[in-house]
Amino acid sequence: MKTQRANLVERKVREEGEHLLFEYPNGLRVKTEKPLRDDDLRILPLGQPQAALMNFMLHESELLENKLVFEPFAGSGGIGLMALKAGARRVELLDINPKATRFQAESARVNGFEPGQFECIEGSIETFLPGEPYDLIFVNPPFIPTPNGLRGTTTSKGGSDGNFFVDIMLSRLDELLKPSGQAFVYLMQFVEGDRPLISDSLERIVTDRPVLLTPTQIERVAFDEYYQAYLQLFPDDREAIESWRNDLVGPHGSELSIEHYIAHLGPRSQEPCTWKISDDLEQKYGEGLRIHFESGRELAFGRAFENFRPG
Ligand SMILES: C[S@@+](CC[C@H](N)C(=O)[O-])C[C@H]1O[C@@H](n2cnc3c(N)ncnc32)[C@H](O)[C@@H]1O
Repeated sequence: MKTQRANLVERKVREEGEHLLFEYPNGLRVKTEKPLRDDDLRILPLGQPQAALMNFMLHESELLENKLVFEPFAGSGGIGLMALKAGARRVELLDINPKATRFQAESARVNGFEPGQFECIEGSIETFLPGEPYDLIFVNPPFIPTPNGLRGTTTSKGGSDGNFFVDIMLSRLDELLKPSGQAFVYLMQFVEGDRPLISDSLERIVTDRPVLLTPTQIERVAFDEYYQAYLQLFPDDREAIESWRNDLVGPHGSELSIEHYIAHLGPRSQEPCTWKISDDLEQKYGEGLRIHFESGRELAFGRAFENFRPG
């Protein structure tokens, strides 16, 4: 049996009034808001996606050492701040939400990071220009596939297939990342057979970097569960939801399923590259980091609900 990496990110969570404080075994402290707040510009708590990326960093401190790291879509900034704790030289955190930059700066100060070690930038991935390309990118972007026509939330809405922001980031990769740089991107995907839909973008855009896609769910969930969740949660949007379903099922078939992955984009290569599935979550990212759910319905409702907006 291959060795599994220990889980070094079993954290404690403390309630502090309206906020949560996440405390990691290595001393990192990150402030977020409580889940599902009545606020489109909410600061999400930290769960399995962030933990998987953080745990990887703690096991790969040589990769992080002295590096310039970028966390776009940073929210609380927990992932990027863990990169600093793991030995990065400097981290730049980007979010369109002005409240996020305030949370990031406060957590950075609480952890005793020096001003030169971090920058909290308010801006959009669509227009942001880095001062210099980064060595490493770690990112948990808005990736919830959301029917067109639903308002959704700024934290979650990822376009009809969930890949709207990931595609923008991939198309800007050469501006953002050094040729020797690497990126780790958490994804939620619709999967046709064994092809996650992001594979089209990877084949079109990332032709000179190897890409490994590590599945992170305990098992795949049928697309139909997700479609039914939207119908139940957003009954007034039935027309938009059905049209979205038809647009997906038309080209991809009704057997679509849902899987989460971590995409690891390696350094640029002279050889033409393609993506591969690599079923190594426990060996590469760590144990106890799979996305668990009691039923497909639970996962589907949980994800669709992230697009719920009061008012
Ligand atoms: C799913 S949340 C993830 C936050 C954080 N990475 C984490 O793991 O907790 C996505 C974040 O992307 C931000 N966001 C949405 N659209 C953006 C854009 N165009 N440019 C930059 N950030 C954006 C949201 O404000 C939100 O904080």
